[in-house]
Amino acid sequence: MKPLRIALTKGRLEDSTVELFERMGFDCEGLRNKGRKLVLTIPDANIQVVLAKANDVITYVERGVCDLGVVGKDTIMEIGRSFYEMLDLGFGRCRFALANKKGEDFYQGYHAKVIATKYPNVARAYFKQKGMDIDVVKIEGSVELAPLLGLSDGIVDLVETGTTLKENGLEVKEYIADISARLIANVASMKMRKGEIDKLLSSMEEALKQKSAREEKQAEASKKEEERKPGTEVETTGQEGRSAIS
Ligand code: PRP
Repeated sequence: MKPLRIALTKGRLEDSTVELFERMGFDCEGLRNKGRKLVLTIPDANIQVVLAKANDVITYVERGVCDLGVVGKDTIMEIGRSFYEMLDLGFGRCRFALANKKGEDFYQGYHAKVIATKYPNVARAYFKQKGMDIDVVKIEGSVELAPLLGLSDGIVDLVETGTTLKENGLEVKEYIADISARLIANVASMKMRKGEIDKLLSSMEEALKQKSAREEKQAEASKKEEERKPGTEVETTGQEGRSAIS
């Protein structure tokens, strides 16, 4: 039978998906030692893996040359189109945010605000629902530069740890959406290969469930360990929203 073809977004999402496949019991040796190969097989699972850029993952799945894809919700929100969003994979977590210079009121003045972003559709949609006209400037990377250079009043971008904003004198003004990796499926594949896809999906869900149970247990154990440490005591300082470990 023809292998089920899955497009993975190269880079961080690819790495997390390979980890997930391993937890599902797949032999990922080929994926771990891929060199410059772009098409790989998981020998024991009749799965072919294609490595692509995020936007292209959506194109390949929408056009049906791949049955499934792993892509960030950010790309889905930006380019949308026609496919099924099947599962939140829980990794690749970050947030879309509106940010500008620290201490500056983004809404000051009456001029149409200029927003620099890699995600013009997301930015337009966000301000449209606020009833605001904005001027969007598309930037390809390191969007944080735009307000620093005086090109824009703010940025709409992904924030993960917040370090890039902080180190460049910017801060989050508003959170727009939570982002994580999603499994998407071609519409026709969901009819023609439903059985195989459903089986893979259940196995993914099971592996994700086990992972989050394990993480919960680990978090609980390290909390207990912290509380048990001699001389360590978690206490409330009495000041709202603050606690101290002494
Ligand atoms: C993303 C994003 C921010 C940064 C946020 O950029 O566009 O610049 O990560 O991460 P942080 O909150 O953990 O600092 P990426 O690393 O993808 O590079 P790019 O801007 O060149 O696309």
